[in-house]
Amino acid sequence: EDTKRSCQSKGKTEDECQNYIRVLLITGRRIFTCGTNAFNPVCTTRQIGNISRVMDTVNGVARCPYDPRHNSTAMVTEKGELYAATVIDFSGRDPVIYRSLGNMPPLRTAQYNSKWLNDPHFISVYEVGLFTYFFLRENAVEYDCGRTVFSRVARVCKNDVGGRFLLEDTWTTFMKARLNCSRSGEIPFYYNELQSTFYLPEQDLIYGIFTTNVNSISASAVCAFNLSAITQAFNGPFRYQENPRPSWLSTPNPIPNFQVGDDRGPGENQTERSLQDAQRLFLMSDVVQPVSTDPLLYQDNIRFSKLVVDIVQGRDTLYHVMYIGTEYGTILKALSTTNKSLRGCYLEEMRLLPEGESEPIRSLQILHSDRSLFVGLSDRVLKIPLERCSSYKTEG
Ligand SMILES: *[C@@H]1O[C@H](CO)[C@@H](O)[C@H](O)[C@H]1NC(C)=O
Ligand SMILES: *[C@@H]1O[C@H](CO)[C@@H](O)[C@H](O)[C@H]1NC(C)=O
Ligand SMILES: *[C@@H]1O[C@H](CO)[C@@H](O)[C@H](O)[C@H]1NC(C)=O
Ligand SMILES: *[C@@H]1O[C@H](CO)[C@@H](O)[C@H](O)[C@H]1NC(C)=O
Ligand SMILES: *[C@@H]1O[C@H](CO)[C@@H](O)[C@H](O)[C@H]1NC(C)=O
Repeated sequence: EDTKRSCQSKGKTEDECQNYIRVLLITGRRIFTCGTNAFNPVCTTRQIGNISRVMDTVNGVARCPYDPRHNSTAMVTEKGELYAATVIDFSGRDPVIYRSLGNMPPLRTAQYNSKWLNDPHFISVYEVGLFTYFFLRENAVEYDCGRTVFSRVARVCKNDVGGRFLLEDTWTTFMKARLNCSRSGEIPFYYNELQSTFYLPEQDLIYGIFTTNVNSISASAVCAFNLSAITQAFNGPFRYQENPRPSWLSTPNPIPNFQVGDDRGPGENQTERSLQDAQRLFLMSDVVQPVSTDPLLYQDNIRFSKLVVDIVQGRDTLYHVMYIGTEYGTILKALSTTNKSLRGCYLEEMRLLPEGESEPIRSLQILHSDRSLFVGLSDRVLKIPLERCSSYKTEG
C-alpha cells in the first residue's frame, strides 16, 4: 500500500501503480520473476512445485521496467547470468542492456549515449555460442533526414568483463546492425519496425515480424535472417562520426573475427587497443539482408503482432509453418517458403474472438509435446491444436 501511494503521489494512475509481471524465466526447477511493483521493480525466485514460497528477493532495477508498457526483454544464460534490456529509471529515459547475477561482473551499455541506444523498444534476446543477441527497434541515429525507426540486431560477448579506466562497468564488445525487411523495387518499400521474433536454433534462422509505423498506412511482413548473415555484418566495416563533422564515415573492421579472448577474458594488449575502438565503433556499416529478396509473406492493411514457427515433416521435405497473430485477435497459418509460386499462401485463418470483438494477440507459444498452440490475450490464455484436420472434412 505504501509503494502504491508513493507511486500515485508521483503522478502515476491507479492502474499503472499495480504489480505487472514483466519477467518470467524458468531455469531447471527455479522460477525467476520480476514485477513493476508500482514503479518500484522487484524480482523474486521461487521453486516449481511451491510457487507461494519466495526463496529470494532482489531489486528489480535494470532487470524489469518501471512502466508496465515499456517494451523490455530478459533471459537467463546456461551459467545463470541475467541479461535484461529495459529502462533503468522512473521516467524511462535511460535505456540499458544490463548483465547481472551469475559470476560475471555486472555490465551495462553506455549511459545517456543515444548512439548506443536511441529510444529503443526491445523485442527479444537469445544466447547463441559465445554471444548474446538482442533484437530491437530504435530511432535511427545514422538517418540524417528527419526521424525514422530502424530494426536492429545487437550483440555482446558473454565473456566481456568491461573496460578499465575507459568503459568501466560498460560493455567493450557491444555492436549493432540494421535489419532489412523490404519489398524490392526501384524504390524499395521498407517495413522498418520489428514487432516480434522467433528463433529456430536447428536452422540458425531468426524469423521476424516487421510493420510500418503506427502513424503510417498499415502493412506487415515476415522476413527471416540467417545467423551467418548477421555474423557477416558484424565482421564487416563500421560506421562512425568523426567530431565535429556530422557525416557518417565507414571504416574497415580492425578485428574482423572479433571475439573477446578466452574464458579468462581479453588479453591485455587487445583490451587496450579495442577500448578506444569499442567506444566509437559499434554501428555496423553493412545491413543484414534476409534469406529472400522479398519478404516471405506480406500483407497490406493489417498489423501482425506475434509469430511462432513449427517444423513439420512433409512427404519428402521439412516445412516451416508459421502462426502469425494479428492486432485484431486472428491467427494466420502460412507456409514459409522461398519458392515464389507458393509464397504468401495462407493455409488457414483462425478467428479467436466473437464477431465484432477485436484485440491484439499478446503472445504465442507452441508446446510440441502436446502439438498445441497457446495464445495469450490481455486477460486469458487459449489453447488450439496445431493439427486441425477435423475442421476439414473433405479432401480437395
Ligand atoms: C510451501 O511453502 C509454504 C510456505 O513456506 C509452506 O508452508 C508449505 O508447507 C510448502 N509446501 C510444500 C508442499 O512444500
Ligand atoms: C510497445 O510495442 C507495442 C507494439 O509495437 C506498441 O504498441 C507500444 O506502444 C509499445 N510500448 C510503448 C510504451 O511505447
Ligand atoms: C534492402 O533490400 C532491398 C530489397 O532487396 C534492396 O533493394 C535495398 O537496397 C536494401 N536496403 C538496404 C539499406 O540494404
Ligand atoms: C544459412 O547460411 C548457411 C551458411 O552460409 C547456409 O549453409 C544455409 O543454407 C543458410 N540457410 C538458409 C535457410 O538460407
Ligand atoms: C603486449 O605488448 C607488449 C609490448 O608490445 C609485448 O611485449 C607483450 O608480449 C604483449 N602481450 C601479449 C599477451 O600479447
